[in-house]
Amino acid sequence: MKKISIAGATGYTGIELLRLLVKHPEVEIVTLTAESHAGKNIADIAPSLKGWVDQTLVKLSPELATNCDVLFLALPHTTSMQNVPELLKGGCKIIDLSADYRLHDAKVYTDWYKTPHLNPEIIKQAVYGLPELHRDTIKQAQLVANPGCYPTSAILALAPFMQQDWADAQSIIIDSKSGVSGAGRKLRQSTHFCEANESVTAYGLGEHRHTPEIEQELSGLEGSDITVSFSPHLMPMTRGMLSTAYVNLKKNVTRDALHAHFVKFYKNERFVRVLEVGQYANTAHVAGSNFCDIGVQVDTRNQRAIVTSAIDNLMKGASSQAIQNMNLMLGIDETTGLDAPPLFP
Ligand SMILES: NC(=O)c1ccc[n+]([C@@H]2O[C@H](COP(=O)([O-])OP(=O)(O)OC[C@H]3O[C@@H](n4cnc5c(N)ncnc54)[C@H](OP(=O)(O)O)[C@@H]3O)[C@@H](O)[C@H]2O)c1
Repeated sequence: MKKISIAGATGYTGIELLRLLVKHPEVEIVTLTAESHAGKNIADIAPSLKGWVDQTLVKLSPELATNCDVLFLALPHTTSMQNVPELLKGGCKIIDLSADYRLHDAKVYTDWYKTPHLNPEIIKQAVYGLPELHRDTIKQAQLVANPGCYPTSAILALAPFMQQDWADAQSIIIDSKSGVSGAGRKLRQSTHFCEANESVTAYGLGEHRHTPEIEQELSGLEGSDITVSFSPHLMPMTRGMLSTAYVNLKKNVTRDALHAHFVKFYKNERFVRVLEVGQYANTAHVAGSNFCDIGVQVDTRNQRAIVTSAIDNLMKGASSQAIQNMNLMLGIDETTGLDAPPLFP
């Protein structure tokens, strides 16, 4: 059994990691950390885990990395990079769910996150943890930067268009909707029940921090710099994320041809389900699972492809994807502990 620890176990992604890891056949949980809840029992802070985990939460410290094989950091951004240099010396593998090591260029991080990166030299050793694109490098990595939820849904919807002479990679528009758990467990006014319930709003237009992450990965696939228009929205639901992406077509491409292209592109991917022609992605059909559902259409009047992609932001958008990465890093079957149908209804 491999030893696993989680820093930030009391947050939404930390609790989701625990829900999956307690049933994972190849791991045992060693240490759980929290900040404001340190000293308490995890089951008191996450009552859903009662009977599954019975552990006292401790404060994050460098020793954490010396007695486990894999350490998940489910921490706010900037907190991760304050701790990663010391934690790496402990020798364990680290999967960081924050944004701190996702961007390859420290200047881009500083521009979008409005804070200097504390250890740009470590960025180079981090691998962007989207298994469908970077499986082989993830297997070798000591530090994996787990992707953001919006980027996961957008990149998987758009990767098949890259390096295709029939697609205009500079014309991409992504419209995304997220459940409120995407903002984490910490209270803030915009996610207060009275503010988020019975209401849909756009936010971060033209400046959302996930934009450069989407551009970085699509540019890498295309082989040249791509900019995208990305518009996120907050939806009155607990979990779930839907992205609808638009790409101008340079040639006539039929809906059936586009569908066949997507089916071929993802034919070996267990966790990407390309829906039948005429079906569109639905967050309810992936809830609680590691699946990304993708539905395609062509708007022939405007010669534009439209792709819908649905994930659970806490799962494929965060914690189950992190476990998919852990499986790869440990050299075990990628689907271990993850291959289950979604929750429905
Ligand atoms: N929520 C999502 O859908 C989602 C998706 C993808 C990526 N992410 C990323 O994953 C990370 C965790 O997100 P989350 O939604 O789980 O956040 P969260 O619910 O706010 O949880 C944050 C966790 O970090 C701990 N913490 C806070 N400040 C700390 C500090 N200074 N030092 C040590 N620990 C500290 C908290 O402990 P206490 O509870 O004791 O205060 C808590 O366990 C974030 O970087 C987020 O951007 C989230």
